[in-house]
Amino acid sequence: MLGRGWAVMGMVVAGAFAGISGQEQGRVTAADAQSWWRHAVIYEVYPRSFADSNNDGVGDLNGIASKLDYLEALGVNAIWITPCYPSPQKDFGYDVSDYTNIDPMYGTLADFEQLVVKARQHHIRVLMDFVLNHTSDQNPWFLDSRSSRSAAHRDWYIWRDGKGPGQPPNNWQSDFGGSTWTWDPKTSQYYYHYFEAAQPDLNWRNPAVERAMFDAARFWYDRGVAGFRLDAVDTLFEDPDLHDNPFVNGEMVNKYNDNLAQNHEVLRRLRTLSDRYNAVLLGETWTDNISQLKQYYGDHDDEIQLPMNFMFATINELSAPKFRHQIDSIESSGEWPVFVITNHDMERSYNRYGDGVHNDQIAKLMAALYLTLRGTAVMYYGEEIGMRNNDPTRLEDVLDPLGRMDWPKNKGRDGERTPMQWSDAPNAGFTEGKPWLPIPATFKTYNVASELQQPDSILNFYKSLLRLRRDNPALAEGDYVDVAPDDAHVLCFLRRYQHRSVLVALNLSSQPQHLDADLARYGLGTARVTTLLSTMHNDPGDLRQARLDPFAALIVQVDQ
Ligand code: GLC
Repeated sequence: MLGRGWAVMGMVVAGAFAGISGQEQGRVTAADAQSWWRHAVIYEVYPRSFADSNNDGVGDLNGIASKLDYLEALGVNAIWITPCYPSPQKDFGYDVSDYTNIDPMYGTLADFEQLVVKARQHHIRVLMDFVLNHTSDQNPWFLDSRSSRSAAHRDWYIWRDGKGPGQPPNNWQSDFGGSTWTWDPKTSQYYYHYFEAAQPDLNWRNPAVERAMFDAARFWYDRGVAGFRLDAVDTLFEDPDLHDNPFVNGEMVNKYNDNLAQNHEVLRRLRTLSDRYNAVLLGETWTDNISQLKQYYGDHDDEIQLPMNFMFATINELSAPKFRHQIDSIESSGEWPVFVITNHDMERSYNRYGDGVHNDQIAKLMAALYLTLRGTAVMYYGEEIGMRNNDPTRLEDVLDPLGRMDWPKNKGRDGERTPMQWSDAPNAGFTEGKPWLPIPATFKTYNVASELQQPDSILNFYKSLLRLRRDNPALAEGDYVDVAPDDAHVLCFLRRYQHRSVLVALNLSSQPQHLDADLARYGLGTARVTTLLSTMHNDPGDLRQARLDPFAALIVQVDQ
């Protein structure tokens, strides 16, 4: 799992207002008026693995287009496609060599444009992934930059002399292992990379970089893209004096190359540009605490509308108090929550929360948790059918650079990126070729076609839940009231909107639990109860005596 160390630096340097034309600066509008994204469910598509239309073993854009009926019926409002730009695929697309095109392995620009149009016909918006911090080392900008010290793009990247012969400029360590500095003999200097050596960092202190990147954003906005997921937004800037990072308890803290104040200046300007298109920014915002996360919304709600809450996502146990704490802290921050439980950098939620016995039940429980809370939700493909990790067992099979770096301690991210399981046909109906990653044998049972046939499947639970979330005003608009704040095992909350209330009760334990919610306190003591969705087969009856089965999820309407 990728999770980054954080440190806040209180240094503010006025940045150039480089990427935005004067005309655009004046047009920051009240985007809230049209904020479709507030109640949206955004579905992350890993394009290599979603659907393969040309049977080369790798998914593609026409594959995604062929599954829009499925996505619409599932009930998602938008898809975020991880990078599908031309790329040497060293980090599977997070190494971009051309920001304004589509990698031929995924199709053409025309395919992309058609996908956007078709998706809109299915009421689905398309978000792209914007890799701001770094490019591929094969990007023409970097090829030029490394060609000579006087090259036009030299200063688009971060080049420095070493401290001495064979010594990098400072002690900074890459997230992908080793120094962040790679020696380039051609010009006898080091270049900087927060991630892999094949992913050199752009120099955001150079206004030309911001101009070029904002031009790329416009290019996609003009093609109907509804927003961007912003990759690694915390890492855009580095201390110009390259101070060594300190160690705390034996671990390096990225004080001087992570989470610098200037990041926020770029985000504000990108937001200004995005507001012009009523577009949404979804942030890859790894934070240690709520005040760090709050900063990403911007002091005046003028940065990222949807910074993802990874503090919630990385609670790796079914702990009611821990989830409650994270929900409370985002609720009391006054910001709009963005809940997510898994993505392409994390072990799948099915594995992380499953106890090996009640995994399907727990998958539904987790869905009922984050999809009934107030806020925007981000799903990861396959989560809705109970896809599990299929980790490599031999180093020679590992494709992810992170997995090769630290084998076998860290098996990398291949396991959570395997092809979508569409049916019990060969290769799970993903391709007629050889899938780029192996599919686990469990696809025979855990696949879309089979689960659609089973009323009790994880998939049908997700579909019901997403429908409920869409149609029930209390779930869409209601406030959040924790009605059992001291319960060690059960999360129980009300979502209240006007005269309607929905009560969600989730038993996070392997034992039956009695609901202990004082509804009278909320004027609901004599309420009539209607079950909206439940994983239990018995009717809960009187809520004051309701017994929740192990890992049960119960969602009821409570009427005065
Ligand atoms: C983000 C991506 C991850 C990638 C890294 C470098 O964390 O989610 O997959 O490896 O950035 O671009």
